[in-house]
Amino acid sequence: MCGIFAVINDKKNNASQTIIEGLKKLEYRGYDSWGIAVKTKNKLVVEKHIGKIGNAQTFLPLSNIGIGHTRWATHGGVFDKNAHPHLDCNNQFAVIHNGIVENYLEIKEKLIKKNHKFLSETDTEIIAHMIEEELKNKDYSIDDLAKKVFKSFKKLAGSNAVGILDAKTETIIACRNGSPLVFGFDEKNNQYFLSSDIPALLKHTKNVYFLNDNEAVVLNKNFFQVYDLIKEIPKKINFEKINLKSSSAEKEGYPHFLIKEIDEQKKTILKTAEKNIFLIEKSLKYFKKAKKIIFIGCGTAYHCALLAKYLFAKNGFESDAYQANEFSAFSNLINKKTLIIAISQSGETADTILAVKSAKNKDAKIISIINNRGSTLERISDFFVPIYTGPEIAVVSTKAFTSQLIITYLLAKSLNFKQKEGLKNIKKLSKELNKWLNQSLKNKIIDLAKKLLKENHFYIIGKDLNYPASLEFALKIKETAYTHAEAFASGELKHGVIALIEKNTPCFVLASNDEHKNDIISSATEIKARNGKIFGIAPFESKIFDFFIQTPDIKELTIIPNIIIGQLLGYYLGIGKGADPDKPRNLAKSVTVK
Ligand code: G6P
Repeated sequence: MCGIFAVINDKKNNASQTIIEGLKKLEYRGYDSWGIAVKTKNKLVVEKHIGKIGNAQTFLPLSNIGIGHTRWATHGGVFDKNAHPHLDCNNQFAVIHNGIVENYLEIKEKLIKKNHKFLSETDTEIIAHMIEEELKNKDYSIDDLAKKVFKSFKKLAGSNAVGILDAKTETIIACRNGSPLVFGFDEKNNQYFLSSDIPALLKHTKNVYFLNDNEAVVLNKNFFQVYDLIKEIPKKINFEKINLKSSSAEKEGYPHFLIKEIDEQKKTILKTAEKNIFLIEKSLKYFKKAKKIIFIGCGTAYHCALLAKYLFAKNGFESDAYQANEFSAFSNLINKKTLIIAISQSGETADTILAVKSAKNKDAKIISIINNRGSTLERISDFFVPIYTGPEIAVVSTKAFTSQLIITYLLAKSLNFKQKEGLKNIKKLSKELNKWLNQSLKNKIIDLAKKLLKENHFYIIGKDLNYPASLEFALKIKETAYTHAEAFASGELKHGVIALIEKNTPCFVLASNDEHKNDIISSATEIKARNGKIFGIAPFESKIFDFFIQTPDIKELTIIPNIIIGQLLGYYLGIGKGADPDKPRNLAKSVTVK
C-alpha cells in the first residue's frame, strides 16, 4: 500500500523521468494519485496528480535527485493536495510515506500551535513540519539533519516507511519501521535508489539492501550510510544480489500482468515444488514438535490457509485456519507448542504481521510461506519457504496462490510419508496445465464471459476441497469483475441459500473426480429444480450441467484447474466491463495498514 521511489546521482540528470518509470512499476501498491519532487539548482519542484500513473508523463526540470510516491489513500480523500510528496512551510523538506502515523493528530495540533500551516488532510504532512521545527533557524550539517530526522521518525506511532528530501544539503534520508524499504546501489554509475519493492529497481541494479525495522539510510551524492535508528549509530551492511530478470517485471507481450501471471502457472507450480523440497524436509521438525498447527492469511492467502487445513486433515493431521485479521479472538489459545504457518504473497500484510507478532509473544513458532524476499514476515519467522514465482504485479493474486497451495500440499504429503506421490501428482498437474491452459480454453471462457456479462449475482458451490476452492473462485470474480459472487459449501445450500435461486440464476458447480461427486451433483440438481442455470467446472460431464468446462483430473489437485477457471473468468469479465484487470478499484496489492 503506497509505493516509494527515490534516486540520487541520476546518471542522465533526469531524476523525474527515472522516478516516474519506477513509480509505474510500483503502481500496484496504490493508484489513487501520484507525485514527484526534484531539487533543481535553487529549490524543490513538486508535481502531484490524482488518478493512475498509467501512461502519464512528467515535465519536471532536469535534476539528479528526487523522490516520488504512488498513493493508496488512508488519511484524506483523493485530491491533488493529499498526494505525496508533502512539504514544510518553507518548501525545504519533501516527504513521501508508506504507512499510517497513528498519533498524527496530536502532533499536528502541537505544530499548528507553533504556527505551522498545513495544506493537506494527510498524516504524512506532519513529518515535513516536524523536521522543519527541529531545524528552525539553524545552520545544519547532514549529520544534524540525520539526527533530527531520526528523532522525528521515532516519535511516529504505527508502521511506517518515510523518505525525506532536504533541499539544502541535497540529501535523502529514509527510515523504516514496519513498512518495507529497499536500498539499491548501482556501483557502476554511483546511483543510489530507494524503493518499496524490487520490481522498480531491477532495471537499474540487482545490488540491494533490505532495510530492517528501525534502520535508516542517509544518501548524499558523495556517500551512503545505513544507521541503527535506536542507537543512532552507523552500521556496516552487506548488499544482496537479486536473482531476477528485469523482464520478470514486464508484461512480455501480454496485454495485462494478470493474464501473464495466470499463464505462468504452467511453470511456477512445478518450479515452487522442485526448488523447495529441501526446505520442506527441513521444516518438518517444527511440525513434529508442535501440538497445534494453525494456518493464517488474508484474502487469497486465507483461502490457501483453509485449503491447507483440508489437505492436512486428508493426511491425518489436525490443524486450524484463521483469517489473520480475526486471529486475536483465538490468541489466548496460543502457546509455545503452537506452530503458526503464515501465508502471504507480499510478506507485508499488516493483519498477518500483527497476528504473527502476537503469536510470537506467546512463544509460538512461526513458519512463513512468502513470495517477496526480504519482507517483514520473512524476518520475523523462525523458518520461511519462498515460493519463487517471481514478482506478482497484478493486484489480484493468482500464481502466488497456486504456489503457496502447492507448498502446503507437499508439506501435508511429506508429513504423511507420501512426498514422492505428492511430487508425482504435481508433475502431472504441471504437464496437464501446459496442455489445457491454451487459447482454445481461453476462447471458451471469453464466450462464457460474454454470456454472463450482464449478470449481477453468481453463486458457486463445492464440497470438501472444492468448497474453499469455490471461495477463491468467487473472490476472483468479485475482485476483477466487480460482480457479486458468493460461494457456499454445497451441503449448506438447502439450509437457507437456496432461497436466493431464481429462474436462470447462474450457479457454478466446482467438482473433482472424488467420493463427493454424487453429492455435489445432487446439490446441483436441487438448484436446477428451482430453475437455476448450472455451469459445471469439473473433470467429468453431467447431464445436469447447462454449460460445461472440463478440467484435468489430477485427484486432489483438480482444485487448481478448477480455480484457474475462476481466474480466467474474472479476467475476461473484467475486460468486458471495462475494468482494469491489473488494478481493480479500491484494492491494493499489499495492505500494510490495519
Ligand atoms: C490484499 C490483496 C489480496 C491479497 C491480500 C493478502 O487484500 O488485494 O489480493 O490476497 O492482500 O496479501 P498477501 O500479500 O498477504 O498475500
